Amino acid sequence: MNNFDLFAKNSLLFAPMEGVTDEAYRIALMKTFPEWDLFFTDFLRVPTTGKVNERLILDHYGKRIFENKNWRDKNSFQILTTHRAQTEAVVDIINDLNFKHLDLNLGCPSKKVNSHFGGAYLLSDLPALREILRKIRSRFKNHFTVKMRIGYRDDKMFVDTLKLIEDEGIEAITLHARTRDQLYQGVANWAYIKEAVSTVKIPVIGNGDIWNAYDIEDVFDQTKCHSIMFGRSALKTPWLAKIYKEYVKEGESIDETYQLYQRKAHLELYFEALLKEYRQENRADEVIHKRFKSFSLHLFDDYHNGEFIRGQFLRSTSLDQFMDLLYHLKG
Ligand SMILES: Cc1cc2nc3c(=O)[nH]c(=O)nc-3n(C[C@H](O)[C@H](O)[C@H](O)COP(=O)(O)O)c2cc1C
Repeated sequence: MNNFDLFAKNSLLFAPMEGVTDEAYRIALMKTFPEWDLFFTDFLRVPTTGKVNERLILDHYGKRIFENKNWRDKNSFQILTTHRAQTEAVVDIINDLNFKHLDLNLGCPSKKVNSHFGGAYLLSDLPALREILRKIRSRFKNHFTVKMRIGYRDDKMFVDTLKLIEDEGIEAITLHARTRDQLYQGVANWAYIKEAVSTVKIPVIGNGDIWNAYDIEDVFDQTKCHSIMFGRSALKTPWLAKIYKEYVKEGESIDETYQLYQRKAHLELYFEALLKEYRQENRADEVIHKRFKSFSLHLFDDYHNGEFIRGQFLRSTSLDQFMDLLYHLKG
């Protein structure tokens, strides 16, 4: 095991998510559910043309977070790049700003991104991947990790890719256990996380369809991975890290009610904190309302009439009405 000290073993990481994890969102979550160990920006697409400067990086990361040492320690920066993009220039700025952690996106399945040779495409072109890893590794002095899928079309190069990444001095690998072609279909296969753990000596962070505290225990038991990252599951239960750390780790037995415990109170905390942060950024109510509706797409499945409840939130016509529905929600 290397001396990786960016986060402790068994950490619970809030995944980078485009359209979700902007600065206001991350601040709201850090304040409300500090049990999450680490947050990420969504990917900054490294520009191929045009000027890159400090402002581009800080706007993406969030200035308020950058100016707060405690928050900075809990927020990592993710980039998505290609062999043609201005990787060196961007990494030099990130390095000069003394970011503690940089993560490279090797998982994005978007057709547009992949046709420009970025994201998961790089899993199908190992020479190009190696070149990019070297560029970044040779310039960035702090922790450098990647977030990948098990392959592009299939898993044939999975083991070779893992070894290449380890050989190039990358310090940890987050693995979303699906191929790029699988997009989000089927269920992520955690056996690949176990295979990664036995293939490389660097920490592996398991990711994909880890929905609740039972799953967290299963993934740690079955794969022996270092830590776990949560995407859609964190949007479904933004207090999942709290459930796991407070109730499960305290030795409370988990039964089917744990996931429901205080869910209304937690939902209120979640939306109130988001509202406060978005308002601080002077976002218009209509913009906030639109955002809230998009978050509600991930919520309410735990209610027996979840579809109906979600429908009510989605049909709401104003932010006030949305919040009113929230306060009148039962249990
Ligand atoms: C709305 C959304 C946006 C995402 N944006 C990113 C991103 O910017 N960078 C990234 O590495 N992964 C991104 N992902 C992938 C997630 O980080 C995660 O790997 C994936 O959703 C699988 O985990 P899950 O099963 O817990 O959702 C995104 C996923 C979703 C649902």
